[in-house]
Amino acid sequence: MLRKSVLRLLGRTGASRLSLLEDFGPRYYSLGSLSARDDARDARAYFTTPIFYVNAAPHIGHLYSALLADALSRHRRLRGPSTAATRFSTGTDEHGLKIQQAAATAGLAPTELCDRVSKHFQQLFQEAGISCTDFIRTTEARHRVAVQHFWGVLKSRGLLYKGVYEGWYCASDECFLPEAKVTRQLGPLGDSFPVSLESGHPVSWTKEENYIFRLSQFREPLQRWLRGNPQAITPEPFHHVVLQWLDEELPDLSVSRRSSHLHWGIPVPGDDSQTIYVWLDALVNYLTVIGYPNAEFKSWWPATSHIIGKDILKFHAIYWPAFLLGAGMSPPQRIYVHSHWTVCGQKMSKSLGNVVDPRTCLNRYTVDGFRYFLLRQGVPNWDCDYYDEKVVKLLNSELADALGGLLNRCTAKRINPSETYPAFCTTCFPSEPGLVGPSVRAQAEDYALVSSVATLPKQVADHYDNFQIYKALEAVSSCVRQTNGFVQRHAPWKLNWESPVDAPWLGTVLHVALECLRVFGTLLQPVTPSLADKLLSRLGVSASERNLGELYFLPRFYGHPCPFEGRRLGPETGLLFPRLDPSRTWLVKAHRT
Ligand code: MSP
Repeated sequence: MLRKSVLRLLGRTGASRLSLLEDFGPRYYSLGSLSARDDARDARAYFTTPIFYVNAAPHIGHLYSALLADALSRHRRLRGPSTAATRFSTGTDEHGLKIQQAAATAGLAPTELCDRVSKHFQQLFQEAGISCTDFIRTTEARHRVAVQHFWGVLKSRGLLYKGVYEGWYCASDECFLPEAKVTRQLGPLGDSFPVSLESGHPVSWTKEENYIFRLSQFREPLQRWLRGNPQAITPEPFHHVVLQWLDEELPDLSVSRRSSHLHWGIPVPGDDSQTIYVWLDALVNYLTVIGYPNAEFKSWWPATSHIIGKDILKFHAIYWPAFLLGAGMSPPQRIYVHSHWTVCGQKMSKSLGNVVDPRTCLNRYTVDGFRYFLLRQGVPNWDCDYYDEKVVKLLNSELADALGGLLNRCTAKRINPSETYPAFCTTCFPSEPGLVGPSVRAQAEDYALVSSVATLPKQVADHYDNFQIYKALEAVSSCVRQTNGFVQRHAPWKLNWESPVDAPWLGTVLHVALECLRVFGTLLQPVTPSLADKLLSRLGVSASERNLGELYFLPRFYGHPCPFEGRRLGPETGLLFPRLDPSRTWLVKAHRT
């Protein structure tokens, strides 16, 4: 029963898988207080993606993993305290049996394959606007130094011993498996072969003398760490799953392979006959990037947030914290776990021929469009199915029509001939709801809109903290809809600038809508950086006015001066997001059953 729920959460791959004006009162919503809290508590933040295997070209799942980390780190940088206090690393995982075998199959030297595919990842991430501060390759000399040093620390603390490992190994997943995690699968010729129950990948029997890590000693320390840090693994169901795993016995772990069998890796220091297990090698990348073993790494560790896919939870939530505790270090602060993208309900794989190429998608849907799609639709807790109609529908409705339409309605020359941020009239829109008078024009729904947008930055920040970026985007989208409703309700196109009765209200309607747009543009920066830049530039918001800590919405409503009032709008740069043509042929058609 327990196992069933764990499997359901993890999915089955394969077979069936947020000071400008500090005297502002408490109703003046901003994220200023939040950034002050961050300043004091954890000034530095280090985000990581997993490092990607170089056995095959990147797909949209890999891009998704990197985009989640990119959005989190961009949001953090916008929140302060300063850009220099945020670090974001990604890279490629280049050693191990999987890569050794892939190179042999391709008839290439491993270095050749690694150079080629690592470059693909670097190009993709550059094109997709992944704002990493570091890109690490495990074949770099700095990494070998870090791994061998880390090994030496574990050894000196008596945590490594030599012993015989006998059991199953899955080269595709680079992991050892107990008998209970292996099943048999029927091949095309009716023959059966052993596969991993979780991934469906082939496994092979190995018996070798290896170095073994005393993982069993860490069951209780890991349980204490997780129980004492309920937010260590987010979303919560994954935290729960790891605690369930720790209810079971935790056997020691083989952390080397015979060099004759695995030559493509980092040799065990002082014993060239053994190569360090690729997961130990790979996990240490997070330390290499921040300068380990030099003391500088200590200013970044453990202020770390690892973003990982659910398939590599055990490696990050059990092995890695155990290695770190073993080396006398703290586990990472946060592990953010996401689920997978499937295509027509199936896992993406070369053999099924259903791999969706992220570069084609970026070209077709624009960089910002595709970033928005993946982050708006990807739900960390559950797998998400990809097809093109979904992308076109979402982008046309939320970016082209709703957001683009709203901007156009408020900035078009015929409605806003002076091309300025008009003045807000406190008599038309008094701060107290329910006031009556000949000049009061605001209605109950308008106060609801102000309240929604005022609290939006905080809501968005909370969603980022909980690794629910899709919910942050859903909240922005809902406010965009509310703002379009506001504009529709007051139909500024029916009001006349020449009329002394209409003009103050017309200016107020546009002022409020532009303030809402300014908040939306600011909040969208981590997800759609170019589109947000276009939007904020059109509103005349300067680069120094785009931080979350200074995002004060509608100050005139709260009795404070507004720096934008009367300001000229930025130059017209065309449509914010051009509609996509739904009649184009699809790369991936909707899967209808
Ligand atoms: N090399 C290891 C990670 C080592 S980190 C110290 C690895 N590499 S991977 O290339 O297989 O996967 C990298 C990331 O991509 C993982 O977080 C994985 O979950 C993610 N994804 C792989 N396929 C995916 C989807 N179909 N959808 C979403 N993410 C997916 O594991």
